[in-house]
Amino acid sequence: MMRILINHSAVSQIQGRAPDRSAEEFHKRLPDYFRTPLIHLKKLAQKYGVGEIYLKDESHRLGLPAFKVLGASWAIWRTLTDVFGIELSTWNNLEQLRAQIKLLKPLKLVAATDGNHGRAVARMGRILGLAAHIFMPAGTVEARIKAIESEGAEVTVIEGGYDEAVAYAAEEQNDNTFLIQDTSWRGYEQVTRWVIEGYSTMLWEIEDASLEKGIREPDLVIVQIGVGALAAAVTAHYKRKRGNNPRIIGVEPANAACAMAAMKAGKVVSLTGMQDSIMAGLNCGTLADAAWPIIRQGIDCFLAIDDEWSRRAVRELYNEGIMTSESGAAGLAGLMAMLSEPEGENCRKYLNMNRDTSALLILTEGVTDPKGFRLIVDL
Ligand SMILES: Cc1ncc(COP(=O)(O)O)c(C=O)c1O
Repeated sequence: MMRILINHSAVSQIQGRAPDRSAEEFHKRLPDYFRTPLIHLKKLAQKYGVGEIYLKDESHRLGLPAFKVLGASWAIWRTLTDVFGIELSTWNNLEQLRAQIKLLKPLKLVAATDGNHGRAVARMGRILGLAAHIFMPAGTVEARIKAIESEGAEVTVIEGGYDEAVAYAAEEQNDNTFLIQDTSWRGYEQVTRWVIEGYSTMLWEIEDASLEKGIREPDLVIVQIGVGALAAAVTAHYKRKRGNNPRIIGVEPANAACAMAAMKAGKVVSLTGMQDSIMAGLNCGTLADAAWPIIRQGIDCFLAIDDEWSRRAVRELYNEGIMTSESGAAGLAGLMAMLSEPEGENCRKYLNMNRDTSALLILTEGVTDPKGFRLIVDL
């Protein structure tokens, strides 16, 4: 099952500061930095009848199994520069940076998460010598809780869902405790803007790898939507450039389709009921305020898919030797659904898709729930 919403008012160029490489400059100084692979999925492109499929593989990013640390680390760094005036030019290695941070008051980072973002905040806390307190929604799988505790952070699992966890984390803020959240609301937008900027590193890496390997610009970029920060980063990157910009497709779970709901309402709205898709990172009921204007102007088509499509995509990738989660595979799941289901035809026509179309996907995480993974691929 799939629902489609075409955004007839999407434009090919949106306004705003052109993407720059400052986040990338910072990320290159962190431990375990390397350019993540851009994988050519030739067989899958043939199977589904498109020209090319490329997959940016974020299953190993700065020592963690997901892309999210790019946003969390940049937002933490920008908070430190903003509040305390620390600059890149004042340190050459992390020991020097830690020494500067130690001179400040005891500082703490706080965040809510259903997995990756919280672990990324906790990891950065450990790297920089800062305490971290992470709030998680009820029902979070044990493996994700343990992963965050293993970074030395305090974890509190609350009774409610993700949005309530965010409210708990926000309560903790004070002069020494900084909320590093990948979603935003009125009055809390700047940090989320930095999170969005932080994701730009992976997009520059795609450009660099494409240039080196002679890969042409994609015609379509398909991106997962949770709170929309990743989709905003992708859209801002591709649609603030001059030239022939790709069309963008956003994919979200059928029961957590908060971007589709916002498009229909013409404003950010909160979904009611439970968002309980197996695509854990995409289980969000409210789009980030900071992401909304970019998404509204720049995403051409929204797909809301059911969990079965994401299971199929996990299996397709496993057959290609690629291990990922239900959220990580959701971009491919959306593409498969659009190319296979009759309802996809309107969207395929609108996007001028044909056998030459080149699609870019992001594998946003590796296997973060090994038990769930084994069940899907039947190991
Ligand atoms: C694995 C994974 N993919 C995609 C996303 C979606 O990112 P965003 O919430 O910025 O839309 C998330 C968010 O947590 C995630 O964990």
